Amino acid sequence: MNNLIDILELSTEEIDKLIEVAQDIMAHPDNYYEKCKNKKLATLFFEPSTRTRLSFETAMLDLGGKVIGFSDSNSSSASKGESVADTVRVVGCYADIIAMRHPKEGAPLVASMHAGIPVINAGDGGHNHPTQTLADLLTIKNEKGRLNNLTVGFCGDLKFGRTVHSLINAMSRYEGIKFVLISPDELKLPSYVKNETLREKGIPFEETKDLAAAMPQLDILYMTRVQKERFFNEEDYIRLKDSYILNPEKLVNAREDLTIMHPLPRVNEISVAVDDDPRAAYFKQVKNGKFIRMALIMKLLGIE
Ligand code: NCD
Repeated sequence: MNNLIDILELSTEEIDKLIEVAQDIMAHPDNYYEKCKNKKLATLFFEPSTRTRLSFETAMLDLGGKVIGFSDSNSSSASKGESVADTVRVVGCYADIIAMRHPKEGAPLVASMHAGIPVINAGDGGHNHPTQTLADLLTIKNEKGRLNNLTVGFCGDLKFGRTVHSLINAMSRYEGIKFVLISPDELKLPSYVKNETLREKGIPFEETKDLAAAMPQLDILYMTRVQKERFFNEEDYIRLKDSYILNPEKLVNAREDLTIMHPLPRVNEISVAVDDDPRAAYFKQVKNGKFIRMALIMKLLGIE
């Protein structure tokens, strides 16, 4: 079965191809408007979302397909105690492909074993978010013209930020990548990512609390929200939530060709005054997300 649970299931060649198709869709959208005629996407969102769900749904609609699903697990039979396995087995009788977001790490993997149709992980707990990574890679390719030889700074909640984990895994496969991991001690990148990806592959990285000191060397600055919903107590969240706030003053020492990214939603970590800076690419990421999801849906459904 064609699923996308972890970004590493796609080879770099497959990612290049998805980027190429997404760029072609952007340039010639009319060539694609009937590609998924008579196909149905089910979006099963057991956790809040704006961009990811709506971009999946718009992607399918722009391919001429249809969409079913739920955006609140309280309105699904999960609230009656139905298992993920049973829910997707049922949905597999109605739809051709599933995009699923779930607070439990591994839930989309379980779903992929029972659905009988392709399953896409649209975010599982603090673990992974492969389609945000595809949007991020397309953005980096468009902004920088390459995916190699880049110094990438990740700033904020590197512990619970699933978009960070997936993007680090994906970028670790390109030549000349260096990571600068900027976070408070409590929100450092999990050891399993450092050991199994960075140390295992010998990728250079440094950990620091100091965004200002890291700034001048960065080609990309990937800001993240402190993931409130993953905290066990509110006091810790309140203490850490405003650890980093990017504003125009903090960009004084940044490179002219820096690319500022953020998977969104933003809370306080990027001041709105940065939005007009030509280096801000976070709303471009949103746009790119729809096109690369169109390319992905076609690939997983075996449509040329
Ligand atoms: C991210 C997520 O859900 O992990 N949002 C998104 O899908 N663009 C980031 C976040 O919620 O902070």
